Amino acid sequence: MTSPVFCALDTKDLDHAERLAESLLGHVGGVKLGLEFFLAHGAEGYRRIAKLGMPIFLDVKLHDIPNTVAGAVASLLPLRPAFITIHAAGGAAMMRAAADSAAKAGADRPKILAVTVLTSLDAKDLAAVGQDGDAARQVARLARLAKDSGVDGAVCSPEEVAVLRAELGKDFTLMVPGIRPTWASAGDQKRVMTPREAMRLGATHLVIGRPITGADSPVDAAERIAAEFSD
Ligand code: C5P
Repeated sequence: MTSPVFCALDTKDLDHAERLAESLLGHVGGVKLGLEFFLAHGAEGYRRIAKLGMPIFLDVKLHDIPNTVAGAVASLLPLRPAFITIHAAGGAAMMRAAADSAAKAGADRPKILAVTVLTSLDAKDLAAVGQDGDAARQVARLARLAKDSGVDGAVCSPEEVAVLRAELGKDFTLMVPGIRPTWASAGDQKRVMTPREAMRLGATHLVIGRPITGADSPVDAAERIAAEFSD
């Protein structure tokens, strides 16, 4: 079985990212490159990682008018990422434009994933930007809107997995960060879940960074995580 784990390479150091990705080849399902990496190294840096041959989750959280987001997705298609993120708060037309633009790549198209409510925002922060009410309900509302707009899945926290899986059915990708094997420290993550538990509740993919990248042996850490699925 292909590993559901995407290792977050949260670094600006291109050589370090390349060495890490190379060592993890065959031990994880892919890697996640975010804005920190992509804005520092652009398409050229991306290609150095991509040429290793592993799927890439390009976490660029696009959010603009539909025409611009469609164009941004089109600009990313030659890189052939497996996943691209957009902000669901950009609205139905923007999400539809992103999905339609991705579809132009045919069978190799990237999956578009929606980010719903950033987990860094609490109820007070949300109220300050005019989003009063229950954050969990807002997550469910935006994920439903994403699905109805042709988006392939969502990025969600461990505690949202079960509800989103129940509400959105089985054909919806759920990419879940905030994952910690029992032996790893939580770091700054407040609400964590083990890989096995998140998968049991309906995650399709897991984003795991520091428990792998910060380990003495990232390969051993990735293998210990893989063993948790096969138990
Ligand atoms: O090192 P760690 O496993 O905590 O890394 C998790 C990755 O997932 C980081 O790249 C982080 O930015 C991302 N992420 C997250 N929580 C979210 C969304 C994304 O931790 N709600």
